[in-house]
Amino acid sequence: MEDLLTELRNSENSHQSLHPPGGEEPYYLPLGDEVSIFTQCHLRNLAVMLKGPTGCGKTRFVEHMAWRLKRPLVIVSCHDDLTAADLVGRFLIRDNATVWQDGALSRAVRTGAICYLDEVVEARQDAVVVIHPLTDYRRVLPIDKTGELIEAAPGFQLVISYNPGYQHVTKDLKPSTRQRFVALDFDFPPPEREVEIILHESGAERGIAQDLVALAGRIRSLGDRGLPEVPSTRLLVATARLIANGIAPRLACHVALVSPLSDDPALVAAMCDLVDATLVD
Ligand SMILES: Nc1ncnc2c1ncn2[C@@H]1O[C@H](COP(=O)(O)OP(=O)(O)OP(=O)(O)O)[C@@H](O)[C@H]1O
Ligand SMILES: [Mg+2]
Repeated sequence: MEDLLTELRNSENSHQSLHPPGGEEPYYLPLGDEVSIFTQCHLRNLAVMLKGPTGCGKTRFVEHMAWRLKRPLVIVSCHDDLTAADLVGRFLIRDNATVWQDGALSRAVRTGAICYLDEVVEARQDAVVVIHPLTDYRRVLPIDKTGELIEAAPGFQLVISYNPGYQHVTKDLKPSTRQRFVALDFDFPPPEREVEIILHESGAERGIAQDLVALAGRIRSLGDRGLPEVPSTRLLVATARLIANGIAPRLACHVALVSPLSDDPALVAAMCDLVDATLVD
């Protein structure tokens, strides 16, 4: 465990992060049965796929579950340069000697961490297939370059996230990958829950949180009229934080909610009208 901490802390790879067990409980407001289903999957060695739009609480949920289950959490943000070596490891030259350095996944497998591969479809196919033997009864990670076969330590669990709205058809997950996971669907919370989340996360007044959720509901319905991105809970929290810190509500909505969503003047104007119609100040 100590080795894992030191190595990851020293790691220059900004696409990985480690959260040791313990510490303060990451706030997560459950929206359905996700906590009990995830717990059962953890106990039964089942890998989990979190599906849902950006900013709806997937990462926060995994952080919360790792805290609940008292497991270290390794988060890897996948991108199109992510290779199997980034996950499994590679040989490095150090002091004129060749040494093996584990990748993020190998470290998680050895230490029994929860390993969260965020936006897994972004990773190259060779990186995606290395997770296959970890997701069936074998729970092993073969390291071809060293000939080692690492058995997953108790507590190891693989979690991936996936945003069905974003993917280009060529970037979809293969059925042979998808069918190795229990899938939990995430979406934006119902209005009264979203108000509670904003209150907790921003310190804004209840009236502001309620207005922002009402506004989000209206803007989200513009999704049917060509708005490609709808406001996430994350955007609402950011807007509420600005307002709680003294930025005028309309201005905060413009810079933190409307402008990040679109560059199209007609759509921006339509959203500004909704801001004016919803905010009562
Ligand atoms: N159910 C929830 N409980 C607590 N906070 C939430 C919840 N849903 C959303 N949030 C808030 O929304 C923010 C964004 O959530 P998070 O980063 O988990 O989104 P995500 O689904 O991982 O997005 P992405 O796909 O872009 O990574 C969190 O920082 C938190 O403030
Ligand atoms: Mg996330």
